[in-house]
Amino acid sequence: MYRTHTCGELRSSNVDQNVTLSGWVQRSRKMGGMTFIDLRDRYGITQLVFNQETDDAALCEKANKLGREFVIRATGEVKERFSKNKELPTGDIEIIVSSFDVLNSSEVPPFTIEDESDGGDDIRMKYRYLDLRRNAVRKNLELRHKMTIETRSFLDKLDFLEVETPMMIKSTPEGARDFVVPSRMNPGEFYALPQSPQMFKQLLMVSGFDRYFQIVKCFRDEDLRADRQPEFTQIDCEMSFVEQEDVLNTFEGLAKHLFKQLKGIDMKEPLPRMSWHDAMKYYGSDKPDTRFGMRFVELTDIAKGKEFAVFNSAEYIGAICAEGCASYTRKQLDALTDFVKRPQIGAKGMVYVRMEQDGTLKSSIDKFYTPEDLKSWADRCGAKPGDLLLILSGDTSKTQKALGELRLEMGSQLGLRDKNNFSCLWVVDFPLLEWDEESQRFFAMHHPFTAPKPEDIPLLDSHPGAVRANAYDMVINGVEVGGGSIRIHDSELQNRMFQILGFTEEKAQAQFGFLMNAFKYGAPPHGGLAFGLDRLVSLFAGLDSIRDCIAFPKNNSGRDVMNDAPSRIDDEQLEELFLTLKPLPVKK
Ligand code: AMO
Repeated sequence: MYRTHTCGELRSSNVDQNVTLSGWVQRSRKMGGMTFIDLRDRYGITQLVFNQETDDAALCEKANKLGREFVIRATGEVKERFSKNKELPTGDIEIIVSSFDVLNSSEVPPFTIEDESDGGDDIRMKYRYLDLRRNAVRKNLELRHKMTIETRSFLDKLDFLEVETPMMIKSTPEGARDFVVPSRMNPGEFYALPQSPQMFKQLLMVSGFDRYFQIVKCFRDEDLRADRQPEFTQIDCEMSFVEQEDVLNTFEGLAKHLFKQLKGIDMKEPLPRMSWHDAMKYYGSDKPDTRFGMRFVELTDIAKGKEFAVFNSAEYIGAICAEGCASYTRKQLDALTDFVKRPQIGAKGMVYVRMEQDGTLKSSIDKFYTPEDLKSWADRCGAKPGDLLLILSGDTSKTQKALGELRLEMGSQLGLRDKNNFSCLWVVDFPLLEWDEESQRFFAMHHPFTAPKPEDIPLLDSHPGAVRANAYDMVINGVEVGGGSIRIHDSELQNRMFQILGFTEEKAQAQFGFLMNAFKYGAPPHGGLAFGLDRLVSLFAGLDSIRDCIAFPKNNSGRDVMNDAPSRIDDEQLEELFLTLKPLPVKK
């Protein structure tokens, strides 16, 4: 028998029992004639004691040779501890070991397996199986497990059926890039890994499944960020005979359930809703962080028309009011200016107006504006003595996005983005289409199956860019945690949509023919959404990156540094697949 108890189980009530534990040596300390060993398993840590004065000398000598991460089995008696450790659930007791054996030795691990590890990101990823021994990482995976269990139980009670859909599908180069898989049996042809089960879940609605869900891996070949992995997991859902309101209510219910069960938080219902238009206008983002205010105030009409050429040539002038920041130093303001001028943010510069404690206004552009001008800006922004206005100008959309980044930066600097505070909302009424300058064509903002709002259908030909979609995103703390839409279920409207997206009839047939054919056989009205499971878990766990809640994640170059994937394949494999590789570009 390897164990009678786990390393997290024993308490004072077990005193005087003879027990056997198995686990890893977390650390060992020698103090005088005593040796203490912290024995760890998934459930906790228990202190083992060896006493040179009372125990067998050979046993103590063997114990002193145990290294970190050795796997041992120890038998002994549970005793009350003299000096109790309040930090540990097992801290009231210790085991006076009578015998133990080494089940396996260990090389010295490349970093300490403790909550605060001394290992950098790269080394921890290379030895991820050791990193996963750390409490912090394991707790994230436990939370993930609970979230999937709670999700399944909630959806099951509402009659949702979990159905698996294929992982090797047809490539549809719309949206992100596909990862592709060559087919040996069909030389020269490729499967794609699904970016989401979108078309399959719609087909399941045609099949009458009525309510579908799946906790499913999705694959997207796109640039990676802290909240993006090339393979990630969705809680993917679809429902028949529903309108937008039904979908929002159902999944608001799921979010509420998860907050209650996993965080003990009562989420206020109904969730606030914000139109996409307002999200852009007031926050410069379709995923506004509403944990704090600092909404944009437009100054275009009152700040133009004076001597300041930068504002005069701007399409949009917008401000945020940072409370209590009038005391920002020159250096801090310069740092903010550098921040907005970063290429990824793209502002040309930043203007500020301070409202001193006595109410006087000081600005970086004093010479172009009278105190009355500045006062009209401050009034519009609702500024109080001690506040600071930060102003950006330029093209509307670019400037709003840059102001949005500045707002988030100020929110962070002012400590307004507390990870334990959750602010959830729906962003609704997204535009159906997005114009792409480069290719001079419209793209579907969500995906090509998203239904336009019925009242906007007449605009499809005259003003396609103005058509709103029955599409929605759930946003928590500035993170898009889920998104979906009501779908087009009419093949004629779907064909029209493909036309607008620039598909010829043949191309639409070649790529989406099976869906369009299915729609000829009685497709019910339907809609759905998908949550990003990794993003939800990392928000609940207060993580900075979704990597920390994925057992074996990829790094920012899409590599698994532990098993070194992706990697070359043998010439024989290439041959079997009828593939020839082009010479690789020379690395500069
Ligand atoms: P969408 O593309 O919005 O919708 O994806 C749904 C949710 O998945 C998460 N997500 C990601 N998480 C981690 N890494 C990624 N690379 C990544 N990409 C997306 C986000 C996002 O909100 N088929 C539709 C859903 C529908 O219409 O029902 C879809 O996939 O949290």
